[in-house]
Amino acid sequence: MAKLIGGLGSSHVPSIGLAMDKGLTGTEDWKPFFDGIGPGRDWIAANRPDVAIVVFNDHGNSFFLDKVPTFAVGTAERYDPIDEGWGPRAIPSFEGHAELGWHIVDTMVERAFDPMIVQEIEVDHGLQVPMELFFSRPEKQWPVKVVPIFVNVIQYPVPLPSRCHALGKVLREAIESYPGDDRVVIIGTGGLSHQLQGSRAGFVNPEADRQFLNDIAADPDKLAAMSREDYVRLFGSEGAELMMWLVMRGAMDRKVEVRHEHYYVPASMTGAGMIVLENLGA
Ligand code: DHB
Ligand code: FE
Repeated sequence: MAKLIGGLGSSHVPSIGLAMDKGLTGTEDWKPFFDGIGPGRDWIAANRPDVAIVVFNDHGNSFFLDKVPTFAVGTAERYDPIDEGWGPRAIPSFEGHAELGWHIVDTMVERAFDPMIVQEIEVDHGLQVPMELFFSRPEKQWPVKVVPIFVNVIQYPVPLPSRCHALGKVLREAIESYPGDDRVVIIGTGGLSHQLQGSRAGFVNPEADRQFLNDIAADPDKLAAMSREDYVRLFGSEGAELMMWLVMRGAMDRKVEVRHEHYYVPASMTGAGMIVLENLGA
């Protein structure tokens, strides 16, 4: 059976991708952020996953407000990186794990999650940036296949944090009932605190972010019990993306070991962070 070897969390700020495109990772502005990425990459190199389930939100690039699935699962053989308006980025397409995608859809439907099934889509910075942070930029081919899981954290009503956490448990069941010996990581993306619009544009909350990084490992039930409004209040309207880390966390054991944690503020308008979790006794 496939094995879940780690739960990863990462911001997906698009200008992190731009900094990598433009070779700015060593500049005064960016170095403190990128200095904290190395241990995440080292963990990947040491643990060699075969598949990454990437939980993220599209940002009006592939889905617009005319069609907003609450949960959607990719079952494609390939996902091209979408051009978000600054021209195509020099990163390879992502090879999909279509069969695992279908198995996840099956398992979700059996557990009454009823996702949208996506057989063709381009993926935005929500997936591109965390993939490059953990796996570096390959010349031709990413070292893992991906299954993208899209969560609506944009158009209200967005799903409850508790529901995101429960989805993670279903994904764990799907992974462990999938035949073969694939080594799987699950990546929750987005956050940490940021608000890009409205009267609180520019809002960040480093104190809440640090507490979140602690709680996502030690007390996920507390985070799952919070309301959507709590997320917006504490982390900003876009910081509510952090609910997607709960999907990742729900897939992991109740007790986990923190292998790496990094926080830096601000990356663009965002408190940026990374976490690497292993199941205790893994
Ligand atoms: C920023 C952060 C995001 O998560 C995002 O999706 C877009 C922009 C930012 O801080 O610039
Ligand atoms: Fe985002």
